[in-house]
Amino acid sequence: MSDSSVQDMNLETAYSAVSDLYKGTDVDIHEACKQMRDKAPVYEGNFIAQFGVPTNAGIHQDSRPNYAVFRYNDVMSILRDADTYTSGFIARGFGEAFDGLTILAMDGEQHRNVRTLLQPTFMPATVNKWRERIDEVIRRDFIRPLVDKKKGNLMEFGLGFPIRIMYALMGFPEDDPEKYRKYAAWALAMVGGNQIDPDKLQDARATAHQAGKALYDAINEIVVERRAGGSEGDDLIGRLLRAEHEGRMLNDHEVVTFCRMLLPAAGETTTRTLSTVLAMMFNTPGLLDRVRDDRSLVSPLINETTRYEPVATFKVREVAKDVELHGVKIEKGSFVQCMVTSANRDESVFENPDEFNIDRRQKPSFGFGFGPHMCIGQFVAKLELNCAVNAILDLLPNIRLDPDKPAPVIQGAQLREAKEVHVIWD
Ligand code: HEM
Repeated sequence: MSDSSVQDMNLETAYSAVSDLYKGTDVDIHEACKQMRDKAPVYEGNFIAQFGVPTNAGIHQDSRPNYAVFRYNDVMSILRDADTYTSGFIARGFGEAFDGLTILAMDGEQHRNVRTLLQPTFMPATVNKWRERIDEVIRRDFIRPLVDKKKGNLMEFGLGFPIRIMYALMGFPEDDPEKYRKYAAWALAMVGGNQIDPDKLQDARATAHQAGKALYDAINEIVVERRAGGSEGDDLIGRLLRAEHEGRMLNDHEVVTFCRMLLPAAGETTTRTLSTVLAMMFNTPGLLDRVRDDRSLVSPLINETTRYEPVATFKVREVAKDVELHGVKIEKGSFVQCMVTSANRDESVFENPDEFNIDRRQKPSFGFGFGPHMCIGQFVAKLELNCAVNAILDLLPNIRLDPDKPAPVIQGAQLREAKEVHVIWD
């Protein structure tokens, strides 16, 4: 792909390409996991391969032993022990598009130091200050323009809004806000660099690399300008430029590569989660009215959705030393697929796990990961989703499913989503 075609990349096409790559076959992943939970806590082999999707071990996944775990306690203890079960391979799986401060793929001391430095920027005390800004962008740019249409597919809004918000939080200039759609497409092209089909790998990597470079240049321009201007401001880049831990601060390259990684991490994940939250709200009998009348239920709705239908169905780790799990010997260098979607429905921990119940007592689940790599942006994501659901219910009166269209269906083997959420309003 030439530089100019990267420039012309389109958000809708880039999103569909990622969805197609990670959708896989129609096997019922919940049922497949349930059988494994009952039958064998450790699957010896590449469990995920049967769904036809790549893991983030990329091209390495077939050249090493693979295992999968399904039960709550196993997933929790593996994700918690990041020294034994490491993540460094992720950067290799995606190739050079993910250089620099790719925190997701860091291990050990390096990860702990960077995480400690970044963490304060993402804690609720800081994030909640962004509520007004997030709310304003969602209402002004996305929901108000819909009001007179009286019907539509809410995922047309869902596709753009998370990156538009990151664009605002990163302090990009507001005189050309449409630029975010291009950045969102580039971010998705970076995710698409991971392929199982070797024939597609080279092209996908080249595209991911070019998109990564284009994104780097765009963010770098802002970072250099902000640093020269005194690194002020309460937005994300201002805060990252000033972040400090034990006398260490981030250089420009680190801020740029971290922000660049945030776009794929923050974009399609939030889009897909909005789709599942809306699907559950509209599809569950009586729930829409309850949430419309009592907005304190929006948070439990989001939490229960990320338990019941986590958008990323599994996380992979590389084993750093020989270990034994439930009597199965796993040698160093193997991959372990932690089936999040299974652990979140483990009947030994959650009562009636296949029932969607926003009133259930909250317990940790793994939709945002767990342990040292747990989603650093989870409070941003939950705030965005909360603002989005509230704006939809406030501004689109008597919103309900469109009786002339199919109700939303959540599907996908690696990344789950409801592709369309068709609604009407008065
Ligand atoms: C609903 C939307 C989101 C979901 C479902 C989600 C999910 C996740 C998960 C499961 C992980 C753990 C990955 C692992 O263990 O390998 C993760 C990590 C991460 N997420 Fe999110 N995420 C979302 C939104 C965001 C947002 C909005 C941001 C940024 C503002 C963000 C930034 C990150 C970063 C930087 C990491 C890596 C943390 C580390 O390795 O220490 N995410 N996310």
